[in-house]
Amino acid sequence: MRQPAEPVRVRVRLPASSHDRSYDAAIGAGVLESLGAHVREAVGLAARRTALIIDTGVRAHGHDPTGSLRASGFEVIVLPVTPTERDKSIDTLASLLRGMAQAMVERGDVVVAVGGGVTGDLGGLAAGLYRRGIAVVQCPTTLLAMVDAAVGGKTAVNLPVGPPGGEYLLKNAVGVFHQPRVVLIDPNVLSTLPPRHVGAGLAECIKHAMIGASVGPGHADLLGWTRANLAAARRDGHVMAELIRRNVALKAEVVARDEHEQADDETGGRALLNLGHTFGHVLEVLPGLSMPDGRPVMLLHGEAVGLGLRAAAVTAQALGMTGATGLAIVDELLEAAGLPSQVRGLPDTSALVAAMAHDKKARGGAIRVILPTGPGQARVVASPDPAALAAGFDGLRG
Ligand code: GLY
Repeated sequence: MRQPAEPVRVRVRLPASSHDRSYDAAIGAGVLESLGAHVREAVGLAARRTALIIDTGVRAHGHDPTGSLRASGFEVIVLPVTPTERDKSIDTLASLLRGMAQAMVERGDVVVAVGGGVTGDLGGLAAGLYRRGIAVVQCPTTLLAMVDAAVGGKTAVNLPVGPPGGEYLLKNAVGVFHQPRVVLIDPNVLSTLPPRHVGAGLAECIKHAMIGASVGPGHADLLGWTRANLAAARRDGHVMAELIRRNVALKAEVVARDEHEQADDETGGRALLNLGHTFGHVLEVLPGLSMPDGRPVMLLHGEAVGLGLRAAAVTAQALGMTGATGLAIVDELLEAAGLPSQVRGLPDTSALVAAMAHDKKARGGAIRVILPTGPGQARVVASPDPAALAAGFDGLRG
């Protein structure tokens, strides 16, 4: 991939409170190598230290931004994070906060989170809580974090709950909204991302394509563009960079309109970004699954979302909200992304539907799902017929 002179910038416009909190997502090959200069530009000269919260895998792949940060005059406190859902915990958060306190990180300093969604969530939350909130710069290194998790200020850790023996992980149960000063996206790092994880990120791009027209006229062509380009993005860096730009632009518009996911409007709001997720969160934690060819699998978040998108399309069809074309397009996109559209070993459908009620998107005990209503369109559906949800899960049985 050639190195462009300047990163392409997408503005995330937020309502001003005491100051303008809007920020850029800067997308450019080589951005990670000059991380220090970009962080300095975003936080100014007063910051002396960076708490570098970094995914252990990123360093193992030879990406080490410590030198670049030091060259821009920062003292660097390196706090490595193991990027698993189990490690996205209150214990890890506490150890990061202790590390920052022991290194005397001050209010004017900055957290720099370099890694995938787990690292960004932990880094963002640590920054949001430490001394009642310090600056954070998000530097996502997985496709999923680039197009979704790193943009929009959601941060959280998981919480184990339930009685002994019946424990489960309540995902993203404890967190705050804490917007970054800048999001720095270097598509070059995707060359060391395992292909399976690239596919997982593409699932969020498919999700965005499925809601583009509902988000606004500027994104109405995202579905068509994605259908034409998704497969090429896996092999062509320029197409991948454009895919990232379009998806960040959509995410930026959703966040600008409904930063705290409070819109009750059934046709819009940040909740639309949960398309596929209410099904996906159930699938993601299931042991004992295998691919249609029999290979055992523990699903990645993005893979579970991809399956959740198919389940949502089948559910919408069962409710008479869409025709068969919607499902055919989802299948076409999952295939282009190299994502599974079916799995084996799913438990009883009634247990799967019951597990949906644990999802934090349930309000007052009622399940709320986002379902497609047409090409690029989706809306919130409260208390859908359980038989239609069951049809959705059954549509995933390989
Ligand atoms: N990933 C969903 C959101 O940011 O709202």
